[in-house]
Amino acid sequence: MVTAAQYTVRRRGASVGLRGGAPDAIMRAHDPRQGSERVYLLWKYLHVGTVYLSLAGFVLRGIWMLLDSPLRQTKPARILPHVVDTLLLAAAIGLMLTIGQYPFVHGWLTAKVLALVAYIGLGMVAFRFGRTRGVRGAAFFAALVAFAYMLSVAYAHDPFPFA
Ligand code: HEM
Repeated sequence: MVTAAQYTVRRRGASVGLRGGAPDAIMRAHDPRQGSERVYLLWKYLHVGTVYLSLAGFVLRGIWMLLDSPLRQTKPARILPHVVDTLLLAAAIGLMLTIGQYPFVHGWLTAKVLALVAYIGLGMVAFRFGRTRGVRGAAFFAALVAFAYMLSVAYAHDPFPFA
């Protein structure tokens, strides 16, 4: 659907003589494939953006944990990761539905979900249940390996990206 404002802009484009530009834009606006492509890109930017934000937050909290910094207990440090990870997973679901590929149907998504479970478990050991600094540090680095594996799987669309 073209909104009144968009239509006015396109009409203006046509009247100032954008050679071929305005009619093309109108054609694109009425092509249903363009709409779903935009929705796909929106999910994808949100997903990939929150993936790297989540990684940055995880590394920062890991450093604070290793340094015994009180910053790790601040409100933003405790709440923001949940907000980012919720958006990350919401975008993952949006992407799945848009491209029609699903965990336990497509191998690369199954691998990602299993690695995500491992990553969450390792993160819990690193930040909550690890008794010594050594255990917490080891769990933190293992979680980073799991994250790197998920990135490789995602870009290769292959559960064995290094094979
Ligand atoms: C279990 C939850 C997840 C599901 C179901 C999921 C699903 C998806 C889907 C369907 C795509 C679109 C692929 C395409 O456009 O062809 C995608 C892309 C991507 N995912 Fe996830 N994802 C999940 C979690 C993650 C996590 C935790 C990471 C980071 C470690 C990640 C990293 C990426 C990246 C980097 C891309 C972009 C790949 C590219 O541009 O080709 N995903 N994901």
